[in-house]
This record gives sequence, structure tokens and C-alpha cells, in this order.
Amino acid sequence: MDVRICSANMFLGGTSYLGELCCIMPSKTVEISPDIFWVGVEDWNRRVFDALIPLPYGTSYNAYLIVGNDKIALVDTVNPGFEEVLLEKISQIVPPERIDYVVMNHAEPDHAGGIPKVLEIADKANVVSTKLGVDMAKLYFGVPPERTVMVKEGDTLSLGSKTLKFTQAPWLHWPETMFTYALEDQVLFPCDFFGSHLTSDKLFADEVSGILLPEAKRYYAEIMMPFAAFGQKALDKVKALNPKIIAPSHGPVYRNPQPIIEAYEKWTRGPLEKKVVVVYVSMWGSTQTLERTITKAISVNGVEVVPYNLTVADLSHILRDLVDSSAVVIGTPTVLGGAHPLVLYATELIASFGIRGKVAAVFGSYGWGGGAVKKVKTRLQEGGFEVIDTLEIRGPPKPEHIEKAFALGKAIADTIS
Ligand SMILES: Cc1cc2nc3c(=O)[nH]c(=O)nc-3n(C[C@H](O)[C@H](O)[C@H](O)COP(=O)(O)O)c2cc1C
Ligand SMILES: [Fe+2]
Ligand SMILES: [Fe+2]
Repeated sequence: MDVRICSANMFLGGTSYLGELCCIMPSKTVEISPDIFWVGVEDWNRRVFDALIPLPYGTSYNAYLIVGNDKIALVDTVNPGFEEVLLEKISQIVPPERIDYVVMNHAEPDHAGGIPKVLEIADKANVVSTKLGVDMAKLYFGVPPERTVMVKEGDTLSLGSKTLKFTQAPWLHWPETMFTYALEDQVLFPCDFFGSHLTSDKLFADEVSGILLPEAKRYYAEIMMPFAAFGQKALDKVKALNPKIIAPSHGPVYRNPQPIIEAYEKWTRGPLEKKVVVVYVSMWGSTQTLERTITKAISVNGVEVVPYNLTVADLSHILRDLVDSSAVVIGTPTVLGGAHPLVLYATELIASFGIRGKVAAVFGSYGWGGGAVKKVKTRLQEGGFEVIDTLEIRGPPKPEHIEKAFALGKAIADTIS
């Protein structure tokens, strides 16, 4: 039996009927390597992350218990609201009071939010983290300095029969982040790196369906893409460690890490695809007519094109396509002297998300004074984009505008071919 139904209820703060069931239902733990246990929780009903990204499959908060013959460590905790489930799972293996170390790879509350409760129960346990992590544990969770152990690159911590080694992995995706490596077992705990928002009754990546890689990429796009340069450095460290198992803090555990390491190679520094993402809005169809012409011109010139109408598009799908696209084209009507609000929102994300394909074009329609195209162009240039072409027309497109739109699409295709 597992605890799925209970965890959702507890997240909502429910304590009555299902909450009581939680106390009596044994929940699943999984031994991923000898004496290393997954004690995480599944949040099947969560639908939004970072107040931004849709979670069609929910998510999980993976925590791991490492039982040495001398000391016991808990690697990461869970989102606030799930502490009781975590403690119940731990107690199936050892009394939680016996935990000696709570390793905090990352201070974000979805992994560190359970620390106060664990420290309350395990009253001799100390939090292990980077220098900045120790600061943040105090700031976010009130962990007093005397209950922390600061570690730096290459430091080790003996649990007796097991040794933990710590690797600095800053900016993945906060400044304090680090990876923990169980040396003897060759298990890497990289927290958010290699994660995915994918809840499944199956823990291991090789047991879940083909949606894992696209979901891991969608996760990467939102969380890690702005930090691709740090991701490259961390990947080199991961490859040097040569882990047998990668156990992230969201989504499935990789018993064969090769595919996800190769995917991260490609996403952080691999060649970009011959692909253009077009994002646009149109209120009365003029900008959309231009978009259809531009999209067609890109496609007939042999380049893959993915058009997204922002009124219906899922933002996380756009970001996922931008991970390996070579160019982006933005279309907007003028609204109140600037871009349409949905385009403003998308442009801000595109300009600030560290997208590697920095070639762009902008187009749109206006009724009287115009100005949207110029504003979007300026914001993209601030974000390091080379804006190779623009087209701003008054009212619905006439044949000469269609010709110009086709030329814009061809110019983009030619630039990245
Ligand atoms: C709410 C609203 C505000 C607008 N504000 C401006 C404006 O400030 N300046 C301008 O030139 N046109 C403005 N327009 C006119 C549109 O830019 C124009 O109708 C354009 O052709 C619409 O393109 P679309 O058919 O792609 O929606 C506005 C239109 C609407 C509906
Ligand atoms: Fe995070
Ligand atoms: Fe996370």
C-alpha cells in the first residue's frame, strides 16, 4: 500500500477522515541501494509550481535516508505539509529520533521545508550544507548556527559504513546549491538537477513511460535553462564521479544515468536544432495573418517551426521548445502604445531565461501610432538577442505586407541554416 491519497489531503491541511487514515496506512519506502532508502512523498494533486508552471502530472519531493553502521543521514526533506508522511516513512526504517544529519542540498522550501519538524523530532541532528546554505537555513527555517555543519567542495562525512562526499554545484538553481554523493554506493543526490515534475507509482526511470524525457526537458527549461553555464560545470563534475544511480529530489530515480546525462549535455551545450519558435497574439487577425505567412516561409525554407498563440499556449511548452531552438520570432499588435500584455509577459521570460539561440525577429500590426514592435525589439536586445528583422504594418496586411512577411520568415530561416 502507498500513501498517495493521504499526502494530497495533508497538503490541503486536512486532518479528519483521510488524515487519520494516514496514521494507520503504511506507506511505501524503496531501498535504492543497500541501506539507502527513498522516503519521499508524492504530491499527485499539485497543479502549479513557482506560481508559474503547470504540473499536469503533479510532482514528488524525494528525500533519502542513508543508514550507516555509525550514523544516519537524511538527504533533503519535503514540502511543508508533508512532514508527517516523511516521518512515518522514516520510522519504518529507523526511529526518526536517531537521525544524526539532515543534508540540505538546497534551501528551497519544497526540499528544506520539512527541516524544522525533523530537527524537532531528531533533537541531536545537525543540518549539513554549504556556507550560504547555512545562512539560508537560518533565514528561511530558523535553524540556529550551532545545529549546522558547513561543508565545502570535496568534504566528506563518515556515517561508518557509508561516506558522503559533497560537491559545490552553485546556481542550480539557487546560489547555495550542492550535490551529495554516497561514495561506496556511487549514488548521486543532485536535488533539483536532473529532476522532473512527474509523479508515478513507479520510482525508477526505467519503469515509467516515454513521457519522462519530455517532462525532464520541460522541468530543465523552467528551472535550469537560465543557469546552463553552471549546469555545464556541474555536468563535468557528475561525469567525473561516474555515478551508478542518480537520485534527484523530484521525479524518477535513474538506475542507468547515461540517458539523462546525455540529455543534459545536449540541453546545456549541445548543438541547437534547426528550429524556430514563433510566439504571437492577435486580437482581430492582422498579426495572425502575418504569423501564418512567416511560419510558412520558415517551413518551406527547410527549417522546423513551432508556432504558439499565447492566448492558448502553455508557457512551459514554449520554454521547453526554446531549450534547443536557434531563433525566436515574436508577433504582437500595439495595445495602448506598447505590446499586448501577453506578449510583454512572454517577451520578459524569453529575454531573461538564458535562451541559447539568440537570433530574433519581431512583427505586428497597429491602428494609429504603433510602437509595440520597437519595444519588444529593445527588450530582446537587452537580453542579448540579435534582432535581424522587424515588420510593423498599419491595419490588416495588404499584398505587399504579405511579401514582406514572407521575406522576414525566409531571412530567419536563412540566418540559422
Ligand atoms: C485594446 C486596444 C488597444 C489598442 N491600442 C493601440 C495603440 O495604443 N496604438 C495603436 O497604434 N493601435 C492600438 N490598437 C489598434 C490595434 O493595434 C490594431 O487594431 C491592430 O491592427 C490589431 O492587430 P490584430 O488584428 O493582430 O489584433 C489597439 C487596439 C485595441 C483593441
Ligand atoms: Fe529548487
Ligand atoms: Fe525543487
